[in-house]
Amino acid sequence: MKKRGFALGKQRKDAYVNELMNFQQRGGAPDVVLLDRLLQFALIEARSAERFRLLSEGLEDAYLKEFYRKFMISEAGHYRLFIDLANEYLPEERVRQRWTEWLEFEADMITKLPVRGDRMH
Ligand SMILES: [Fe+2]
Repeated sequence: MKKRGFALGKQRKDAYVNELMNFQQRGGAPDVVLLDRLLQFALIEARSAERFRLLSEGLEDAYLKEFYRKFMISEAGHYRLFIDLANEYLPEERVRQRWTEWLEFEADMITKLPVRGDRMH
């Protein structure tokens, strides 16, 4: 960033992540909490991978293209890890069912977030 003349800005509240946190089940049986945390993390990682893919594909700069491509691969691996962990500790059908609920929640929620030019969610 320094080399390119940028400075790191202040960290902002992330409305997308906050909305996901509101959907997450808290309390109750530990396996319910575990499943939701793993799926929330999986979703965030999956969307990061998608963003980095778009960045990588949309850039002309060869260095940045590769830089973001590597991030994309890494984030996709994190997504896979959280899904694999969920399937390791919980029945796969239950994981699939709850994952669908997360995707439906996100699809609806994302249409309600204000569009802003300074974020990618
Ligand atoms: Fe990650």
